[in-house]
Amino acid sequence: MRIPFNDLATPHASIVEDVVAEVRALAGNSRFIGGPAVEAFEQDFAAYCRTTHAVGVANGTDAIELTLRALGIGGGDEVLVPANTFIATASAVAATGATPVFVDVDPVSLLVTPASLEAGKTERTAAVIPVHLYGHMVPPADVLPFAARHGLAVIEDSAQAHGANAPAAAQNEALDEKVRAGSYGVAGTFSFYPGKNLGAWGDGGAVVTDDAQLASRIRSLANHGRSEGTDHYEHRYIGRNSRLDALQATVLRRKLADLDSATGQRRRVASVYAEALAAHGIPLVAPLPGVDSAWHLLVARVPGREAVRRLLDEAGIGTGVHYPVPCHRQHAYATDQTVSLPAAEQAAAEILSLPFFPHLRDEEVAYVADHLAKAIAAL
Ligand SMILES: Cc1ncc(COP(=O)(O)O)c(C=O)c1O
Repeated sequence: MRIPFNDLATPHASIVEDVVAEVRALAGNSRFIGGPAVEAFEQDFAAYCRTTHAVGVANGTDAIELTLRALGIGGGDEVLVPANTFIATASAVAATGATPVFVDVDPVSLLVTPASLEAGKTERTAAVIPVHLYGHMVPPADVLPFAARHGLAVIEDSAQAHGANAPAAAQNEALDEKVRAGSYGVAGTFSFYPGKNLGAWGDGGAVVTDDAQLASRIRSLANHGRSEGTDHYEHRYIGRNSRLDALQATVLRRKLADLDSATGQRRRVASVYAEALAAHGIPLVAPLPGVDSAWHLLVARVPGREAVRRLLDEAGIGTGVHYPVPCHRQHAYATDQTVSLPAAEQAAAEILSLPFFPHLRDEEVAYVADHLAKAIAAL
């Protein structure tokens, strides 16, 4: 059996005709930048995230950077970022002139906690970026009270968590209310990189927010600093070009219609994995209680990971590591080698992303779990 790490081709087969028909219409009206296709997707995506505004941008990194810029965050400011995220969370902060300050995570959930955020806070901290890693959402109760106490902006990096939900308040069983990823901070940022749960046929990103002024400023910054409703060559801000194009918006809108069903399949495959890995005593990085994860990645913890990975490769099983080097140990950011963030460092040595996609079959999950157990035993 050969089991790829991911399979993007199969789910596209059923939508390609729909997309082609829309692209024909697009070619006819030639509204390639902005226009009805982008507006329709933005409306649908805002509604999906349960926010009032969505602004399409060129990618998920720009979504973070432009949000920070629109909030006036830059040189002299610090922004709290988990050490175990994709480097883009940090590079977006650095691009504004602000300094990313890396914080450790909970050793089991691998998500930021109130204590880890508190440890990174200084007088210069202006914002915090919780990352909903692997689709496992950081609940608002772990971020908002801390941020409110210190007057910090919260930007949720939701690049891996389209459609995840978390309890609205800690220990609020009676209300049983949930909030959606991207909707509890001042803004939520998304990536539509092809491998993401909602992936474009190229690059794309979005910011969602309930703040109309913030949305308008981000839209302007992403469009050469133009003001909405004014002359095409009037530039209110120093902006740049970071727009979501109509072709990508067309693909994304069609795929958004299927997203909940794909997420449901992901949750089902994750529960099959959870059972199979538990039977072999292999720990899985799981969402916190009450969180409906978007299950972007399926990550096990495996000491001796590199050797295990090689054995899985020999058995035809594709794997990944998200991420092998924590940000504070990356050459570009490792200004202070004495910084120690033990939970993130330990995780980086052990995490192993297993084959995972909505249509993965139960027998394929069993094959992976069995080979993983055998590889661990062979060490
Ligand atoms: C957590 C996280 N943040 C930010 C990004 C950046 O998104 P993009 O690649 O669209 O710039 C990604 C994905 O690549 C990501 O996984």
